[in-house]
Amino acid sequence: MKLVLLLIACWVVLIVIEVKTPVTELTPKEALVELEFLAEKLNFYDQTYYQDDNPEITDSEYDALRLRLETLEAAFPELVKLDSPSKRVGAAPAHGFKKISHAVPMLSLSNAFNSDDVADFIAKTQRFLGLNEEKSIEIVCEPKIDGLSVSLRYEKGILIQGSTRGDGANGEDITKNLKCLADIPKIIDNAPEILEVRGEVYMTKQDFSALNDLQKKRNQKPFANPRNAAAGSLRQKNPNVTASRKLQMFAYAWGEVSEMKVDTHWEFLKLLCAWKFPTNPLSVLRYKLEDCLEFYQKIEEKRSGLDYDIDGIVYKINNLDWQDRLGQVSRSPRWAVAHKFPAEKVKTILKEITIQVGRTGTLTPVATLDPVTVGGVVVSRATLHNRNEIIRKDIRKNDSVIVQRAGDVIPQVLSVILNERPKNSIPYVFPKYCPECGSHADQEEGGVAIRCTGGLVCPAQRVERLKHFVSRGAFDIEGLGTKHIEAFTKEGIIKNPVDIFFLSDSASMLSKRDGWGQQSVKNLIDAIDKSRTISLNRFIYSLGIRKVGQSTARLLAKQYCNLQTFLEHLQMAKDRKSESYNELISIDGIGSAVADELLGFCCEDNNRKILTKLSELLEVQDFQNVEITISPVSGKTVVFTGSLKKLSRAEAKNKAESLGSRVASNVSNKTDYVIVGSEPGSKAKKAQELGVNILSEEEWLELIR
Ligand code: IVH
Repeated sequence: MKLVLLLIACWVVLIVIEVKTPVTELTPKEALVELEFLAEKLNFYDQTYYQDDNPEITDSEYDALRLRLETLEAAFPELVKLDSPSKRVGAAPAHGFKKISHAVPMLSLSNAFNSDDVADFIAKTQRFLGLNEEKSIEIVCEPKIDGLSVSLRYEKGILIQGSTRGDGANGEDITKNLKCLADIPKIIDNAPEILEVRGEVYMTKQDFSALNDLQKKRNQKPFANPRNAAAGSLRQKNPNVTASRKLQMFAYAWGEVSEMKVDTHWEFLKLLCAWKFPTNPLSVLRYKLEDCLEFYQKIEEKRSGLDYDIDGIVYKINNLDWQDRLGQVSRSPRWAVAHKFPAEKVKTILKEITIQVGRTGTLTPVATLDPVTVGGVVVSRATLHNRNEIIRKDIRKNDSVIVQRAGDVIPQVLSVILNERPKNSIPYVFPKYCPECGSHADQEEGGVAIRCTGGLVCPAQRVERLKHFVSRGAFDIEGLGTKHIEAFTKEGIIKNPVDIFFLSDSASMLSKRDGWGQQSVKNLIDAIDKSRTISLNRFIYSLGIRKVGQSTARLLAKQYCNLQTFLEHLQMAKDRKSESYNELISIDGIGSAVADELLGFCCEDNNRKILTKLSELLEVQDFQNVEITISPVSGKTVVFTGSLKKLSRAEAKNKAESLGSRVASNVSNKTDYVIVGSEPGSKAKKAQELGVNILSEEEWLELIR
């Protein structure tokens, strides 16, 4: 279930980040569907983040989802629901702690992602307050601490309650735990009768790393980042555990206060210091946009060197009267904004380049790094994407490199610091052979990926290839589903397709497996035996050669008629000047890209060995033996348009192809028949214009009957 949710979520992230239809182009109905989808996702991620301390997406991905929801809500205010995630801060309190209600809600901050957004924030503030644009506004700039926000309530100067933010209105009572923090004053001198101080509890990078070492030693799950470690440590049922963890705090705001003795936020920070609260020493007071941005720049440069995680700069209007007048909108104050940092970049040494082979055979170069903390996470590996990327950036072993953890969680090497390159350094040579199976590795035509060609033998590709081999359109072996393939390959019972046909030798061992009896083993062996006779086109398709789907396999089978000829001709076609190569690429529907894939596969020795064994074990029927050649539509090009009543589109296509027709998606003067269902599109009109034969579904069925 979680996996399904995650897949959907990834899809949403893709929609939101990649495809983002402009909101102005959406109908209210489309907007509603997307809003509901986004709300569901945000609820799920809020839960994993705030209650389980186990975020499943990165902050930037979360921000993108939230931004999209807010943009949609702004464009369609009539669709905003009362329980929209935009109206909420965080998540409802987790079970297990007493619920407390905040006397003054704990708000969140709206985000600015670039300097234009910050300029907008200042301009809006000026407009709202009716100030002249020339008039400078005092702004307090504070680092935005990536921790857990808490509220501390003092009555008559005594700490009586400490709580988490929860959903902004209600939090969790974690008084006992907060009292364990040395940073938090338990008694304050000269405090107002009632005072609520708010701030961020965090763990330093150093303490986080030490805690995770300890977790590992105790065989306990390490924390994903310092924020989660801080949250997990604070929300412990046993305060002794909290006490054993090193937690710190920066104070930066207030909640209920019986009497506020200062007029500005800057003075309030000084008051916090006088009351012995730790405040962030980097905070400054600035007077105009450019100076705020300069501060942002300066802190961003310092960011990786700080011993605690920050994820942006918070700008706050200094004057408290103005803050009052500005008030709040939805869940955030109008008087503050969080200017987020982009993904963090850090320098480290690249120790080694290794090659990983994916399930589909792609060779991905991966850098082993001197471990370094980036964006709160210790990174020791980063993707180098592909060979071109290594060449373009001239990445070499022992280089000093800049690493970034971007929106996705896979860290990447951004660039090389060339003037720090060791003198004896040599360029990286991308391997010509797959490190997993030794088959040769080819770059696909027009693409950047380098792929292992040993599809039938490569352990990295084993599961995917075998799943395809036994699938419906291929060998169609019932009873050998994904689960079994995965288990059999893991245990080494099947390594390549040939082993499937020797499974009968292991029948007694198989029947002892969990959930298997003699009958199910017999059924499986029968299904395998039944598949020993197979048509040439299915056989070619089953090999799982890239770009060779069912129709291409059929074209090849038709051209070469039998397996022997097919293999011989492909072997000869290796020479691109040969007649065999010309013959191959002149098959209608096969271009040089398909030819490259075919040749790469069939000329790989490892694959050929398997092909030879399969041809000895199986009866691969010649094409003519199994195909209906006398058909009125054989060799004709047909196009389907509109919805058909009796057949699904896939069925209609399959049927037409099995009768020797070529099914095209567009009408041209090469089209022989256009079969028109109900509500046909422009294709029917075009057929009429070109004088192509137009048939109704019934007429077509009659013709092929
Ligand atoms: S002010 C009403 N200042 O960021 C505004 N928040 O995304 C109260 N945060 O909920 C927050 N550093 O948990 C403020 N210097 C800072 C902050 C800060 C971190 C957190 C806080 C807040 C969240 C908003």
